[in-house]
Amino acid sequence: MDHFEVSGGVLHCEGVALPAIAAAVGTPVYVYSTATMVRHAQVFRDAVAATGDPLIAFAVKANPNGAVLATLAREGLGADVVSIGEYRRAIAAGVPPERIIFSGVGKTAAEMEYALRGGLLQFNLESVEEAEMMSAVADRLGLRAPVAFRINPDVDARTHKKIATGGALSKFGVPIDEALDCYAAARDLPALDVQGVAVHIGSQLTDLAPLESAFGKVGTLIGELREAGHDIRFADLGGGLGVPYDRDMPHPPGPAEYGAMVARITADWDVRLVFEPGRLIVANAGVLLSEVIRVKPGVGDDFVVVDAAMNDLMRPSLYDAYHAIDPVRPGNSQMTVNVVGPICESGDTFATGRTMGTVGAGDLVVFRTAGAYAATMASTYNSRPLTPEVMVSGDRFAVIRERQDIEALIAADVLPEWLG
Ligand code: LLP
Repeated sequence: MDHFEVSGGVLHCEGVALPAIAAAVGTPVYVYSTATMVRHAQVFRDAVAATGDPLIAFAVKANPNGAVLATLAREGLGADVVSIGEYRRAIAAGVPPERIIFSGVGKTAAEMEYALRGGLLQFNLESVEEAEMMSAVADRLGLRAPVAFRINPDVDARTHKKIATGGALSKFGVPIDEALDCYAAARDLPALDVQGVAVHIGSQLTDLAPLESAFGKVGTLIGELREAGHDIRFADLGGGLGVPYDRDMPHPPGPAEYGAMVARITADWDVRLVFEPGRLIVANAGVLLSEVIRVKPGVGDDFVVVDAAMNDLMRPSLYDAYHAIDPVRPGNSQMTVNVVGPICESGDTFATGRTMGTVGAGDLVVFRTAGAYAATMASTYNSRPLTPEVMVSGDRFAVIRERQDIEALIAADVLPEWLG
């Protein structure tokens, strides 16, 4: 459930009419609902409560805006970070270091050092080579690094190939049948505290079976590791649970079903669980609000040209992702159109042959489910300034990131002296 509803003929985010935001901030603009994020955090917390006292570490990559992180930090969520930028954003937003997990296949020595000095719950390592670098960095600082290995369980996550990570040939994790050797190698390194196991098989998962299969393999591995004398105290089960994007498709399994499955599989693990949900917490807490520039007649369906483009919301272009598109002032009539942005390539298409509420030039539309992997993946392609973000709470709203200034965008380029 989200808090974007039509009231008095106008789509609202909580108590704020979306045209008021468009008038104040301009379009395109991302709009986030605080109540929706808070609710999703609570729903997830309730869903996994039966597993003890887990850490829910929000996957910062889904939406790293400081106001979003601060909202979730107040809900008690930690942070799953994958770069020093994300680590610093999480700290700046008030996430306590002991609730931070550092993931990622390419952590640099500088990133390791920064996070070791600042503190964190765990690094999820992805190779013995990385373990060796981690130990050397920690040793030099006179510290010990709390680590887990991310296991690649070789399961097919049944999601889009660009966001599946658990196949044997993917770049992620250590192959599960080499895991015992990796842990043995790590134990021999001087400055590592080997404390956990981690797994993450992909994103926008709409089927629990691959997750269950991966977690089952992790459970077996925990037993083998303990037999080999490792003191395993944490199991990080990653993120990945999908959300409904298309109202007409069957809904993916929800947090409650996921939580029940996890509780069943992990009942005798005797570890503290860690979860890294991203999309589930924020996707349906956001919309991209955009204005129709004009409707261009097509040889086939007409083209609704909006002022948002693939640089603002890349998911349709990158993953053929579906986002529902709705008029902000819905009427009774429908139309079948192509919805496109102004960018000069055909990939700048949000929807083809889409049946949606009728809109015309000057009308506002929203792209739904745009709170995750949306603003954060934006670029300035076609010299379009980065889109602003607005957060709503009840009947208040605030700009939580200003629209990028075009002067600043131009001024960021530096002319070499021979052109000066
Ligand atoms: N943990 C790790 C180690 C991850 O790599 C990810 C996502 C998550 C947690 C959070 O997964 P979630 O709960 O959000 O599914 N840009 C793509 C999604 C990429 C996901 C990358 N990793 C998209 O727009 O669909």
